[in-house]
Amino acid sequence: MQSYDIFVIGGGPAGYSAAIHAVKLGAQSVALVESRQLGGTCLNRGCIPTKALLDTAGIMDSLADGAKRGIDISGSVNLDMQKVLRFKERIVKKLSTGVAVLLRDASVPVIEGTATIAQTENGFRISVTKDGQTQEFTAKKVIFAAGSIPTRIPLPGADDPNIATRILTSDELLDLDFVPKKLLVLGGGVIGIEAARIFRSFGGEVHIVEALSRLLPFMDADISALLTKTLSAKKIKISTNVQATGVRATETGLVLSLSTGEEIDGTHLLVAVGRSPNTSSLSPELKTVLKSDARGFIPVDHQMRTTLPGFFAPGDANGQSMLAHAAMEMGRRAAEAAIDEMEKNTVPREPSLEELRRRGLEKWDKTDFPNRETEFFPFYVPCCVYGDPEIGVIGWTEEEARERFGDRIKIHRSLFAANGRAVTVDRQEGFAKVVYLEDLDRIVGVHLIGPGASETINEAATIFSLGVRTSHWAATLHAHPTYSETLAEAVADTD
Ligand code: NAI
Repeated sequence: MQSYDIFVIGGGPAGYSAAIHAVKLGAQSVALVESRQLGGTCLNRGCIPTKALLDTAGIMDSLADGAKRGIDISGSVNLDMQKVLRFKERIVKKLSTGVAVLLRDASVPVIEGTATIAQTENGFRISVTKDGQTQEFTAKKVIFAAGSIPTRIPLPGADDPNIATRILTSDELLDLDFVPKKLLVLGGGVIGIEAARIFRSFGGEVHIVEALSRLLPFMDADISALLTKTLSAKKIKISTNVQATGVRATETGLVLSLSTGEEIDGTHLLVAVGRSPNTSSLSPELKTVLKSDARGFIPVDHQMRTTLPGFFAPGDANGQSMLAHAAMEMGRRAAEAAIDEMEKNTVPREPSLEELRRRGLEKWDKTDFPNRETEFFPFYVPCCVYGDPEIGVIGWTEEEARERFGDRIKIHRSLFAANGRAVTVDRQEGFAKVVYLEDLDRIVGVHLIGPGASETINEAATIFSLGVRTSHWAATLHAHPTYSETLAEAVADTD
């Protein structure tokens, strides 16, 4: 039985970052197990394939806009979905191979198979099964980075075999070699919006059904409002405040029944109602010890410690921030904490669930957090939605900031309609909105919707991370003409 100091479960962004960082910090024996392909959801079934398809959608949109600029494309524009898929697959393969090379260069063995974990007196036993063969390992520390899977909801009628291939999660959607004639999207969150954008630009009809009162309900309300307007202008139908109550087969596809009594027909249904932690490799006893919440997420502290000493849970498994870049950061924090415990040879104390929660909450009502270089805080995580226009956000929404700071907050806005670069490319829709705490001279929320938002938001992430005062930020010169000038103007407006 082979023994390792650190055993990483999962080769996604949290897992591979944890393994590589652990080696960089001097760990001698680190192994990683993966049951599917290296790169996890992000690389194989999420961010990367989606962005490849979104870029193709962007080309389709530009072609449609061409006539306005004097580009005459005679004849029709056809989309060959087989080639679209092959392009996407080439990108995925290239990047996945890159992860394998990084792990190989760090001398981290990648064990293929499905792991199950049991607690032992001195640490953990990990059994890895592949093709009916099981290998056994022991480890002092486990970094559990098994990620998440699409959430499935009980929808009466969905188990009808006649429509089984028409009901999709994002996993299947990204592998379609055709454009659904009419795609119904259950869930107006990040996946729903990006999918709607892709398949509408590819020529399909799209109808989004959202249970809450607005699209992207966890984002700033002004962003939701403009997004709804731009999607509607693209003739994407949107129903909010409505639940799906059932689905049934028809001759041409399916019909979705809604809580309003309406029925909407489509050829395919995408279920994008969130993601759930992938905890299938944990025994029921282990789940109890880890005090998983009702949805199965594992509570962690800011260094990814769980209630089980020696067991760390970075990435989607803890549900704090289900984004690839957050997962990478969490992976690194977990590696540091695991190594620290080994170096100091501390017998880790078992933090109680209450203690974990309190540690999180104590630091929650602040504008910046102590130890942010060694601990993970979702506050510093930028989030992007690649709709058209793009969205980039960080920090508190206006609503969240009002809850925490009351009337101390001030809102400042600037429009892309006044941005020279945006005007030249005819992409004037959108704004930058900043949430400002005047007494502390700190911006605590940045909300961008408009061209280049997914790049410009990194400027705000840098400022947040450095803890820069807003008056200093406002004095920073921005190149002209650039999209980021719109954010600069909103920041300068605080003065
Ligand atoms: P989500 O949490 O973003 O959105 C799910 C939406 O479904 C919510 O608006 C919710 O109110 C709605 N909903 C829930 N139950 C419903 C029901 N029964 N009927 C109708 N609507 C219902 O989850 P999503 O879009 O599935 O994405 C999963 C995760 O993947 C997210 O955490 C997201 O951050 C991440 N992701 C990030 C991307 C990015 O950074 N660009 C891209 C894609 C996914």
